[in-house]
Amino acid sequence: MALRDATPDASLPATGQLALPGGPERRRANDGWLDRWASAVSDLTRLKTTHPMMDAVIDEQVGRRIRIGDHWLSDFASCNYLGLDFDPEVIAAVPEYIAKWGTHPSWSRLLGSPKPYIEIEEQMTDLLGCEDVLLLATITHIHMSVIPVLAGEGTIFLDSRAHKTIFDGAMLAAGRGANVVRFRHDDANHLEELLREHGGSPRLIAMDGVNSMTGNAPDVARFQRLAAEHDALLYIDDAHGFGVIGERSPDELCDYGHLGNSIMRHLDVSYDNVVMVAGFSKAYSSLLAFLALPTKLKDALKVLAPPYLFSGPSPVASLATTLAGLQVNRTRGDLYRRDLWQKTHRVLAALDELEIWTPNQSGYPIIEIPLSDHGEIDRVGRFLFDHGIYVTMAAYPLVPKEEVGFRVQVTAANTDEEIEHLIDVLTRVRERFQLRARELTH
Ligand SMILES: Cc1ncc(COP(=O)(O)O)c(C=O)c1O
Repeated sequence: MALRDATPDASLPATGQLALPGGPERRRANDGWLDRWASAVSDLTRLKTTHPMMDAVIDEQVGRRIRIGDHWLSDFASCNYLGLDFDPEVIAAVPEYIAKWGTHPSWSRLLGSPKPYIEIEEQMTDLLGCEDVLLLATITHIHMSVIPVLAGEGTIFLDSRAHKTIFDGAMLAAGRGANVVRFRHDDANHLEELLREHGGSPRLIAMDGVNSMTGNAPDVARFQRLAAEHDALLYIDDAHGFGVIGERSPDELCDYGHLGNSIMRHLDVSYDNVVMVAGFSKAYSSLLAFLALPTKLKDALKVLAPPYLFSGPSPVASLATTLAGLQVNRTRGDLYRRDLWQKTHRVLAALDELEIWTPNQSGYPIIEIPLSDHGEIDRVGRFLFDHGIYVTMAAYPLVPKEEVGFRVQVTAANTDEEIEHLIDVLTRVRERFQLRARELTH
């Protein structure tokens, strides 16, 4: 799930309190420990257990229509922004690669990488216009293994609303001696104060690109400048920007830009003092992730980042769909992005007419709709489900209480009928429930 909460509940037990499995007393102690974890996230635990839109089994999928039991829904919870998961050219690419490479190379990357890895790294270096690219299986792997290396015993300046996986990487680094200080979300002035206050090196500024909840992008140029001025490294996770936004061009088809080559190119910001991380598991529908980085750092990570040394690599099908996806991106990607832009703007315009407030100011395809009363999340979710709309529920503590609501994600594979269905149901949600009204927030 792509939800974010950088501030885990302080009441969560420390892992040192874990009872060992063993006799009945020990087992009871173990249960108590699990109960404490569950109660620390009780809203989520309850929803997970009782709500049809959480932890669901999807019985069937036809495009963006999904069946759960005998109930068909339009899926607005997918992050497959370009709709490549059902692109015939992408699907057709898979058998040939599997025939050639088998289903899964069981070498870690340090032992050996099938040639498609190298082809993807070369094509990505070209696409992003960066010095080099390193592939690992997931962004989570990257944050957990690379943030501690980059931070060493220096300081991490962590955006207070950074994605949970960045936060966890920073905590791992803290366990190895890094100092972690947090700046207010998106607040470059606060970051600058902290950079002046905390000297030493190395220094790492860790934050999101396109935000996984608001759908908005930070002023990356300002953050990159601060990194350069203060001899720091900007470490930015653009999981939701890659594939969706790209370099601006006079003949672009929409203001997402051209080629989907991510936030740095979209905002025309240099890669100096920057490591950018993103993945293929959203816009490219493939299990693979990457860092855009200097070659010297890439070489170092090959012996320092445990997933490169030890982890199982991405399945061959994902290497194949990534390569096919990159090919589709070159030929038809901008058409998909225009389609995505149009569908997203249709939804945003409808919200505007309905006076439903969303934090989305970017026009990117992540549209969060907060509720006035966080306690209504269960009922609102059921109403959406009953009316055939599947969304991501943003429950506490995945987000702070004042932001509890639901998140709609639009993809190029959603049909116009599904978009109209969504708008119709949102109209009814607006009539029945208290959503955050525009005037409350302005
Ligand atoms: C901003 C962000 N970073 C990282 C991740 C995790 O990515 P991965 O599945 O590649 O580990 C997500 C997924 O939800 C995300 O939204």
